[in-house]
Amino acid sequence: MDKIIIEGGRSLKGEVKISGAKNAALPILVSSLLTQGWNTYTNVPNLRDIQSTILLLSNLGVKTEVDKNTVRIDAGGLFNHEASYDLVRKMRASVLVLGPLLARLKKARVSLPGGCAIGARPINLHLRGLARLGASIELKHGYVEAKADRLKGNEIYFNMATVTGTENLMMAAVMAEGTTILKNAAREPEVVALADVLNLMGARIKGAGTSTIVIKGVSELYPVSVKIISDRIEAGTFMVAAALTKGDVMLLNAVPEHLEAVIHKLRLAGAMIDIDGQRIRVVGAEKISSIDVKTLPYPGFPTDMQAQFMVLMSVANGLSMISETIFENRFIHVSELRRMGANIKVTGDTALVTGIPMLSGAPVMATDLRASASLILAGLVARGTTEVNRVYHLDRGYEAIEKKFSGLGAAIKRVKV
Ligand code: EPZ
Repeated sequence: MDKIIIEGGRSLKGEVKISGAKNAALPILVSSLLTQGWNTYTNVPNLRDIQSTILLLSNLGVKTEVDKNTVRIDAGGLFNHEASYDLVRKMRASVLVLGPLLARLKKARVSLPGGCAIGARPINLHLRGLARLGASIELKHGYVEAKADRLKGNEIYFNMATVTGTENLMMAAVMAEGTTILKNAAREPEVVALADVLNLMGARIKGAGTSTIVIKGVSELYPVSVKIISDRIEAGTFMVAAALTKGDVMLLNAVPEHLEAVIHKLRLAGAMIDIDGQRIRVVGAEKISSIDVKTLPYPGFPTDMQAQFMVLMSVANGLSMISETIFENRFIHVSELRRMGANIKVTGDTALVTGIPMLSGAPVMATDLRASASLILAGLVARGTTEVNRVYHLDRGYEAIEKKFSGLGAAIKRVKV
């Protein structure tokens, strides 16, 4: 297991290129199951989760080719309807194959994903939606066994906005008989990106990006060649890093429209942010102001940016209330930040952060993807050396993160253990 070692105290300066979005690439790669023939995907980030997805798809009988950030997939030979526990436990987003397998093979056997560090992560809304489309769903020995001779369009109401739930049901509905209406659908840019790709493939989806999505079933979909959108969470992570280190960083290939809540909160915290097309310049302020943050479904402040923002507030000039409303256990990074001197008190879904002048470097343990990113950020500003262990969590969602940070002047290196 590798670790990352950081000498704190450097201000980040320079340009950083934002990679393709993990959470857009995952459902889009899976959507290839709905077609026969070669699909080409460019700007795919080189991440562990992408490798897991490609392994999962090839296990289903799909041909795959990977060349750096370009992935090609031909699902003409799809024959296996089963996603095993061994694959699903590594990446819960594997449940996204449920919808397409039902649409293509009329059956699917997918391991229940189980929980993860940040919460129970149930998929009841996915399954209830598939049942509404006429699938028979059984839970046996830790697996979902789904069957559907013919998926029929229906109205589905999500009692909470679920990103992959919306994506799963969109993919199940695109070739169903008749019209499907998804109500209280997730509005994330990654949902819109998937809908755009499905429409390019011949689907008839309207309203993606709003909370009501209307899908008119079609008989066939066709392979496409598409570019994956930029990763708004990677971009947000580097923006916080620039503010944190009082640096001056230019993000390239970013999408400011996907980052409005993060930009708003960073400006309130004192950062100077200039936007010019796909370039976002962030200049950190001498004094970081304490502000309150509450995570919400898009377009609210993203839960995937909560840990990173908490690091900024831990060295701000006052009191900050950070509420996590999406996941029930997403303050795991707090105990590690406390070991670096942060003053954080957690009560239920709210963390009260009292800013201190300086964090101090320490050996810390990564637990989940975004918590790991927050420990890297803390190391960048801490006095002395910080050692982040179990960085495989980071590699799931950040492409060459230590190279990108050292390109901005950070004293950071990866050590193979
Ligand atoms: C997606 O997860 C993202 N993953 C997550 O990013 C992100 O944190 C999350 O959306 C919220 O924005 C991918 O897109 C691959 P949800 P997802 O279903 O779809 C509850 C990262 O760091 N819920 O929107 O699994 C659920 O427990 C990852 O890249 C049900 O109760 O999240 C949670 O409390 C972490 N039943 C809330 O809804 C269901 O059937 C939102 O979850 C589904 C969800």
